[in-house]
Amino acid sequence: MPRTVITFGTFDVFHVGHLRVLERAAELGDRLVVGVSADALNERKKGRAPIFTQRERLAIVGALKVVDAVFVEESLEQKRDYIVEHEADVLVMGDDWAGKFDELADACEVVYLPRTPAISTTAIIEHIADL
Ligand code: CTP
Repeated sequence: MPRTVITFGTFDVFHVGHLRVLERAAELGDRLVVGVSADALNERKKGRAPIFTQRERLAIVGALKVVDAVFVEESLEQKRDYIVEHEADVLVMGDDWAGKFDELADACEVVYLPRTPAISTTAIIEHIADL
């Protein structure tokens, strides 16, 4: 049976920290499925729309050679449903979420990967806004 890895994120203004986490997630299995958070979910969570629409963000993440499939993550509370639906064996999250998804360990293995230092979408947007 192929080992399926699932991960989630906004992946707005795609940067090398995003690429690295997806490359490392892909190495943990045979198949990588990525839930890209919906525009509406980001608006609820952060109070603003992403720079790139969910259609654009799905297209970018889905075009990467380490990514096998993408889908829209409509709600943060549905992680267990998405794990079951996509038959995931491993859930990968950035270590900014360390410990937060341990209750899903009965559904699949849960792995937290260290973030790439010194880069984030928020920092890029703030840097450009200050130019
Ligand atoms: N990520 C990472 N290293 C970074 C930035 C993000 O490993 N420097 C990972 C996150 O841990 C997550 C995925 O990339 O697993 C998607 O993160 P996302 O929140 O979309 O990106 P950020 O750059 O953190 O965005 P923001 O600044 O809006 O929080």
